[in-house]
Amino acid sequence: MAKIKTQYSCQTCGYSSAKWLGHCPSCEAWNSFVEETSVSGDTSTVSHLRNQFQTQSDWVDLDLQTSASTGESEHLKRISTGISELDRVLGGGLIPDSFTLLGGDPGIGKSTLLLQMTGGLQKQNPGIKILYASGEESVDQIRRRAHRLGITGKGHIFLAAETNLEKVFASVKELQPQVLVVDSLQTFTTEYAQSAPGSVTQVREIAARLMTLAKSAGISVWLVGHVTKEGNIAGPKTVEHMVDTVLYFEGEGGQTFRLLRTVKNRFGSTRELGVFEMEGEGLREVSNPSSLFLSERDEPVSGTAVAVPLEGSRPLLVELQALITSSGLGIPRRTSVGIDGSRISLLAAILEKHMKLPLAEDDLFFNVSGGMKLSEPACDLAAAAAIWSSAENHPIPMGWVFIGELGLTGEVRRVPQTDLRVEEVKRLGFKVAVLPKNTPPNVLEKIGKDSKMKIILLNRIDELPKIFI
Ligand code: TYD
Ligand code: MG
Repeated sequence: MAKIKTQYSCQTCGYSSAKWLGHCPSCEAWNSFVEETSVSGDTSTVSHLRNQFQTQSDWVDLDLQTSASTGESEHLKRISTGISELDRVLGGGLIPDSFTLLGGDPGIGKSTLLLQMTGGLQKQNPGIKILYASGEESVDQIRRRAHRLGITGKGHIFLAAETNLEKVFASVKELQPQVLVVDSLQTFTTEYAQSAPGSVTQVREIAARLMTLAKSAGISVWLVGHVTKEGNIAGPKTVEHMVDTVLYFEGEGGQTFRLLRTVKNRFGSTRELGVFEMEGEGLREVSNPSSLFLSERDEPVSGTAVAVPLEGSRPLLVELQALITSSGLGIPRRTSVGIDGSRISLLAAILEKHMKLPLAEDDLFFNVSGGMKLSEPACDLAAAAAIWSSAENHPIPMGWVFIGELGLTGEVRRVPQTDLRVEEVKRLGFKVAVLPKNTPPNVLEKIGKDSKMKIILLNRIDELPKIFI
């Protein structure tokens, strides 16, 4: 028998209580509790749903070798989405019974990406059936967009303009697709929660039901989620815990490039990065993203240096820019975009102390070109070189990169995966790499082999001016 249960849920974090509370004991939010009813009992439980889709028993033999249980065949089980940047972010392709959440600001291109993915999947795997359910757009709108993007379904891509999850489940039963896209979490409702679309109970119940669908029917489910002002996927954190993979699609205002990041992945590495550019004909993959973050000037200018951050397994070359001007204020300003401001203040203090740079009365502005956000200490040396270059008005020659972390005592420290970073630097034809003195000999040996690139080893930051002589 189905039972109607009333409870009060915090709309900020999802904490639930039997009675109304003015203050959430979990996330400390005020006035965030809303009365919500959910239907519980046999009909709404996971087991009911499982019975609907699953034909096997609830138990398996541990020793039985299934294709999913061996590492190697799991690799074979992955299917290509036809978009290599997306495959990379997923860890090498799509896993058939996986549940993926794609978050991002409205208008960033989530629906476009997933529509292009359905086209790519179809091309790469003829015969695969895909159901694209949208609560945001009409079938006509999706169809028009698909035609503009040159996507044809060849009878295997199905569209549903729907906001009722149970109706989508009925279509899944009828069509038996291998991939289901639900766009978006906030627009759908399930009959098993009687609150407004987008409320905590709805969102949690929808995610739970989609997870069961993915696991019991072996369908790869994609769920689109909106992002709050703070940049988190709206709804309780429990949704992120339920899914196998969480991807974020991001882009800076006014820029056409988009970054697809993994923040959680049960089937691969997190911190992977896919780079796209939004064009008139949809999203285009950018296979050489460094070109986006390096400027195209011919002459060196003071105040810039190139860093090599690692995004997941992928090294990027990014230009850092510093501007130092005399301050009209008593307290000098330290303003930074794309890199933590306190890191820049710290680097400025190191340069003041160990290179005797008179920065105490100057304003320092710092920027990472192309709107990239950097958090790796491996960019310290390049940031310090940019600040020094601006302060001394000494341009750093073209074709140089800087890799290394700075300690408070002024020493240049080694960073992980130097060889991987230098590989990319070589590939892009850079001429000089400035590295920490204590880079392990085996790494240096690997880098040095048949290389036309010069390596300069730096022990302390105060040796920096000497390397340009
Ligand atoms: P959309 O995928 O609808 O974003 P989301 O689902 O994340 O809300 O993308 C909408 C934006 O993308 C819209 O502002 C127009 C732009 N766009 C292009 O520039 N080129 C294209 O080919 C398409 C399909 C969209
Ligand atoms: Mg959309």
